[in-house]
Amino acid sequence: MGVFILGIESSCDDTSAAVIHDGVLLSNVIASQKVHENYGGVVPELASRAHQENIVPVVSEALKEAGVKKEQLSAIAFTRGPGLLGSLLVGTSFAKGMAIGLGIPLIDVNHLHAHVLSHFIKNSQDSEIPSFPFLCLLVSGGNSQIVLAKGYNDMEILGKTIDDAAGEAFDKCAKLIGLPYPGGPHIDRLAREGDPDKFKFHKPHIGGLDYSFSGLKTSFLYTLRDRLKEDPQFIEKNMADLAASLQKTIIDILIDKLKEAYKSYPVKEIAIGGGVSANSGMRAAIEEFCRKRNIKAWIPERKFTTDNAAMVATAGYFKFLQGDFCGLSEPPYSRVKI
Ligand code: KG4
Repeated sequence: MGVFILGIESSCDDTSAAVIHDGVLLSNVIASQKVHENYGGVVPELASRAHQENIVPVVSEALKEAGVKKEQLSAIAFTRGPGLLGSLLVGTSFAKGMAIGLGIPLIDVNHLHAHVLSHFIKNSQDSEIPSFPFLCLLVSGGNSQIVLAKGYNDMEILGKTIDDAAGEAFDKCAKLIGLPYPGGPHIDRLAREGDPDKFKFHKPHIGGLDYSFSGLKTSFLYTLRDRLKEDPQFIEKNMADLAASLQKTIIDILIDKLKEAYKSYPVKEIAIGGGVSANSGMRAAIEEFCRKRNIKAWIPERKFTTDNAAMVATAGYFKFLQGDFCGLSEPPYSRVKI
């Protein structure tokens, strides 16, 4: 029979459900919300309404694809936070209701832990997984962190952004040059045709292992403002070079701090996770970083870079093995340390 875990993710604008059996992924269904595209960013109220519409069909589909009946489930793992409270409430309430109905335990999962543990999603029992300790560069629309992963539930944030996240820098700068939301993937595509050294943008000078991306955003904005005065067609003429130079600057900022972290924590393996880890330049930079130091690089499959329930079910599985369950009265949280 084994252990069957249903994972539920609803922290932002993706409604997702996944089923794993003894740690091996059977299904991972994601309903991404298109409604936000018209607004240039995620609208929290619309996100929670869309989760309400999606949650039942997404969970049903995940069980169907897995060929698992709900009565076979051993536990339900759900993202408790951090994220948008209205969105989290939908997944949390649904998970609680289903766990009560089935009389099975509930497991709360920290969304950031789940991103780090996305490298433990297994397609088969033989799938390779990282060994602890490892460093993980966690880069998404809401977070930019360097995490020292010491165990499944033992993680330390070595550095984090003090303002915007790397994904926000991609998205906000992309918006300034007229690209749709989310801009990160568009910048990635355009950057392949551009010159990464054509424009120089501000890099932060802050101590320790923390990040900052707000100065880069301002410097991008001021470059556009000044150049547009000289040539109103500046953006159209330089789209690819702007994208390539922006992407290079963001990657340089991320890698420079990773170098510092590695000096203090010379681990044998380095991972990357979160939406920005889908970026082709970022993936290549991590590969190169690890190749130069002769250490193992863990680059997630693209489908596991953005929010997904496979990582939630996987994180939940490890908590299940430790008997680490959550009470029905536990509320979701919008902010939390890892
Ligand atoms: O982890 P994620 O799905 O959720 C949030 O934390 O919001 O990350 C979304 C972020 C967005 O900022 C998006 O632009 C960025 O990941 N992203 C990318 C790429 N794909 C997604 N950024 C750069 N290049 C990409 N290929």
